[in-house]
Amino acid sequence: MNVTVEPSGPLRGEIGVPADKSISHRLAILGAMSDEPVRITNYLLAQDTLSTLEAVAAVGALVERDGDAVTIRGTGLRNAHEPDGPIDVGNAGTLMRLLPGWLAGQVGRSFTLDGDESIRRRPVDRIAAPLELMGASIEATDGRLPPVTVNGSPLHGIEYELPVASAQVKSCICLAALLADGETTIIEPEPSRDHTERLLAACGARIERSGNVLTVFNADEIELPAEVEVPGDPSSAAFMVAAGMLVPGSRLLLGACGVNWTRTGFMRIAERMGGVVVADLEEPAFEDEIPTDEPVSEVDVTSGPLVATTVEPGEVPLAIDELPLVALLGCFAEGETVVRGAEELRLKESDRIASVVEGLTALGGRAEATADGFVIEGTGGLRGGRIDARGDHRLAMLGAIAGLASAEGVEIVGAEAIDVSYPGFLDDLAALR
Ligand code: S3P
Repeated sequence: MNVTVEPSGPLRGEIGVPADKSISHRLAILGAMSDEPVRITNYLLAQDTLSTLEAVAAVGALVERDGDAVTIRGTGLRNAHEPDGPIDVGNAGTLMRLLPGWLAGQVGRSFTLDGDESIRRRPVDRIAAPLELMGASIEATDGRLPPVTVNGSPLHGIEYELPVASAQVKSCICLAALLADGETTIIEPEPSRDHTERLLAACGARIERSGNVLTVFNADEIELPAEVEVPGDPSSAAFMVAAGMLVPGSRLLLGACGVNWTRTGFMRIAERMGGVVVADLEEPAFEDEIPTDEPVSEVDVTSGPLVATTVEPGEVPLAIDELPLVALLGCFAEGETVVRGAEELRLKESDRIASVVEGLTALGGRAEATADGFVIEGTGGLRGGRIDARGDHRLAMLGAIAGLASAEGVEIVGAEAIDVSYPGFLDDLAALR
């Protein structure tokens, strides 16, 4: 599906933020692992997180939907059922990397996970390596690509230093650690999103943090609170923040957005670039006591003149999914915007270094790829043109925001990818015009 987004006058108004994708995935999986039912309100009804509901149903959970409320009756920690056939994760990388953590400890049962074309290009060796050290048996194509088969085995605790900061890998090990004998220690090179840790603490699991060192203990069972509400997704909100910053004269108020500090790196970068983004942000540091809640805030955005910035490696995991938007802002800013230490972008739904640089160049931007990021020369604006989403939801939405702020509008090829995380996106944009 091709969609053209024409240049826009000031964007104004108040808008809700769609439910958080990361937290929805985690709640569905933890709900399936729980002994007691959980009612998840404001669950994200998008392709990725619907794949997760189907996946947990395939391994024995009962899933009941009532609007955007989802009730999950789990199987308990050690009783996942062997499914009839392969589990289809669709486009969902988070599902592909988190679910095997739980399944690895289902002794005597086998599970095959497969997905779409993009998933089949994204490596799973980063989860297979620690799971195998814990005693699991994992088979993957060429040892590193989906489809992947997890043969459930008895697990034992390990100490594991993550080679890259990845919340998906960290979360996978945390889930396996609940089923492993003894304790598991995970050392992160840099902080990454900590939703799994917060939810496990809320489940009553024994989990401890000291700076970047996390310890998870064996558990007999976990139990989520009976009802949990998913906050708004700061990664989805970031597109509206960028729109509000780029279209002159705009003023937007975004409601109930998650502002966990491990997710608000983009808001801090945007402010540094000259955007006025007012929100009640968390202190950017891990506390020794793991919080059991997710903070939310309104986000008030005003447009303004932008200046270039440099994003350093330590900031990358806190803004990983929003770095394409930093590149877009960079096209409109004065000076050279640089992102370093972001080679992980090559392993997302598309190679986001190549797709962002080629996409923005096609729209008249001056962008150059580097081995671990990109350099954008600000020219004060974008001409517009045509961008291929390459099956990547975030690239499709970036094209739409570029269109609003461009001179000639932007045609997005493959705009249906948006449904992966934010099905109402184009309607929401239209409502603000
Ligand atoms: C996610 C973690 C990030 C992010 C992805 C969602 C998660 O990936 O890019 O969209 O929910 O844990 P990595 O942790 O692998 O960088």
